Amino acid sequence: MACGSEWLLIYLSSVFLLFMVQSSQGQLRSENGVKTDVFLSPIFMLEPGLVSNGIYYNIDFPRGHIAIKSFNGIDIPNHHGDLEFLRSDHIMIKNSGICDDACPQYFGLGSETRRTATYVPDPYGIEVGNPADIPDGYEERWLLNVHAIDTRGAEDKLGCTECRCDLYNVTADRALPPNYTGGLRCCYDSTRCRVKEGFQGVKRSLFFRYTVKYVDWHASIVPVKIFILDVTDIWTKADESRGLKARHHCLVEYDVESCPVGMANDGCIHTKTLTFSWPTGGDVIYGVAHQHAGATGSTLYGEGGRTICSSNPTYGMGDEPGNEAGYIVGMSTCYPSPGSVKIAAGETMTLVSNYSSAQRHTGVMGLFYLLISDSSAKPDAAEAHKSRVMSDLGWAVALFGVGLVVMAIFMFYVKSGRVDGYEAIKA
Ligand SMILES: *[C@@H]1O[C@H](CO)[C@@H](O)[C@H](O)[C@H]1NC(C)=O
Ligand SMILES: *[C@@H]1O[C@H](CO)[C@@H](O)[C@H](O)[C@H]1NC(C)=O
Ligand SMILES: *[C@@H]1O[C@H](CO)[C@@H](O)[C@H](O)[C@H]1NC(C)=O
Repeated sequence: MACGSEWLLIYLSSVFLLFMVQSSQGQLRSENGVKTDVFLSPIFMLEPGLVSNGIYYNIDFPRGHIAIKSFNGIDIPNHHGDLEFLRSDHIMIKNSGICDDACPQYFGLGSETRRTATYVPDPYGIEVGNPADIPDGYEERWLLNVHAIDTRGAEDKLGCTECRCDLYNVTADRALPPNYTGGLRCCYDSTRCRVKEGFQGVKRSLFFRYTVKYVDWHASIVPVKIFILDVTDIWTKADESRGLKARHHCLVEYDVESCPVGMANDGCIHTKTLTFSWPTGGDVIYGVAHQHAGATGSTLYGEGGRTICSSNPTYGMGDEPGNEAGYIVGMSTCYPSPGSVKIAAGETMTLVSNYSSAQRHTGVMGLFYLLISDSSAKPDAAEAHKSRVMSDLGWAVALFGVGLVVMAIFMFYVKSGRVDGYEAIKA
């Protein structure tokens, strides 16, 4: 169930959002039936250069049969210590695709989502907690993976966020693939990225605050499926005559070599392309790419070259948090008018991920998230979502500090009523 060979999936080049919060979890507000729950993740410790890659089972999440409308997360400093628990014996519930084993998460968030709209428009929702889906004797649980790198005082901040192996104290027993120079295998939990000689920074305990907006399930909600495409997907076509299903082996990350010396820097674009066959038909409700620093945009094309969704990064231009120069602070999103952008089952799709190759990059990503509905929405629903989307863009962030942080959230089912089988891990 890992994404690639390491646990983490979505990590982003950017900065910590540090937030002071007095209150604790589960503040509930309701607006037009949309409920808002705010939760706090377990605590993790960071100091300059250090990596924390924590997996937290059974985190707080709204319960019951609901439709999720949005999911946002930020991290916050905390001054308490705690222990978190780990258990086995579960069934992972994958999103709808299309990678075979990588990226099973429901939501992936990074610092760039601060300026990325994530609202699911009406009348759509991501259905969870349907009692009919949960096997007898199991309960639904949510799992959180937080991958954070403290880049305070880093010798090479971008190199740390790109997990360049030569900057990390990776132990020799880690068998890295040949020519592996950077990526998630070099910034696993408790490794350290090189910090400037003599740099002193305080240890800090941090946690995430995440906000879930949802409505109670009702018959008029149109369910959407989550699809996560990965440009590194090694696709093997289905072969019906031999009863073989299509295979999608996703590598999650890739490297961008710098362009030859002498070429004009602004002309150096590295393009990675994936062509594959779309598994099931539907309407595109929402689309957004996930890329790292250096990216210049990503587009998903349908058969015949029509654009399904183009998602482009916004770069920060200053020093202040949320606007860090050279880092992605937002990705543009697509909210096609419901029913206007359809993908047919078996349609040949092309995903393009572009990066500037004016300099070399390691461990970059080219993911594309789509929300797809099986059925067309009623036309009157189209207008309603716009104000919601806009109002959701406005979540303010007051912060300081540096680092990289990413979280991904997974759903799984676990046998009910079990109290044994826990194993404590340090948070
Ligand atoms: C490693 O890189 C060298 C030089 O670029 C290349 O010749 C070799 O084929 C690569 N090996 C693998 C396993 O990719
Ligand atoms: C890397 O260095 C840190 C701090 O010196 C240490 O705590 C950690 O165990 C080291 N990790 C590895 C994998 O050697
Ligand atoms: C990607 O780069 C290629 C080559 O420079 C360009 O033709 C294409 O329009 C770019 N696509 C995106 C999505 O930026």
